[in-house]
Amino acid sequence: MPLVGARIVVLVSGTGTLLQALIDAAASPSAPFTICGVISDRADALGLARAESAGVPTRVVATSGDRGAWDANLARELAGFAPDWLVCAGFMRILGPQVLAAYPHRIINSHPALLPSFPGAHGVRDALAYGVRVSGCTIHLVDEGVDTGPILAQQAVEVAPDDDVDSLHERIKVVERRLLVDIVSDLARWGCTVTDRRVSIP
Ligand code: GRF
Repeated sequence: MPLVGARIVVLVSGTGTLLQALIDAAASPSAPFTICGVISDRADALGLARAESAGVPTRVVATSGDRGAWDANLARELAGFAPDWLVCAGFMRILGPQVLAAYPHRIINSHPALLPSFPGAHGVRDALAYGVRVSGCTIHLVDEGVDTGPILAQQAVEVAPDDDVDSLHERIKVVERRLLVDIVSDLARWGCTVTDRRVSIP
């Protein structure tokens, strides 16, 4: 993969299909970004294998009981990649103050519900349990809260009467992958400005 455009580090905890969509997009000669590293909190994350197959360097920064030490370790590993942007793609940890301070308005998260409804680790399950007829996904900037940062983009997905958590999540992820690639591409090309909670990509 040629190292051109904005430098992106992707953080993953799981299967990494969102990461795969970014890897595939970055392989295009016209891609405005390159994935310079993938970091996981879990050594067994399938996303790491996807990165290795694509020739992207990986690191594991496992959590210990000490959140401050984990935050510092993650900040150090990230700095080694000198990224322009971080993308949390199925990363199931709350980032700490050192990492947040190092990349102000430069950390993107993808969430499988229409925020501010249903934040947290079980957005799909919680939306389904509430009985919503429409859910979807949200791409947003990360702040110190849990899924509370300024919103970059959202897309709706209808809930089918026979949906369970897995079927709804799979349909959301189809939309989520495309939206994430589009937004990361736009940010890599144009950057963004944030006024209060309003984000604009010029
Ligand atoms: C996505 O729906 C993401 O929003 C959520 O976890 C899922 C990650 O999927 N936090 P994958 O590991 O990229 O397949």
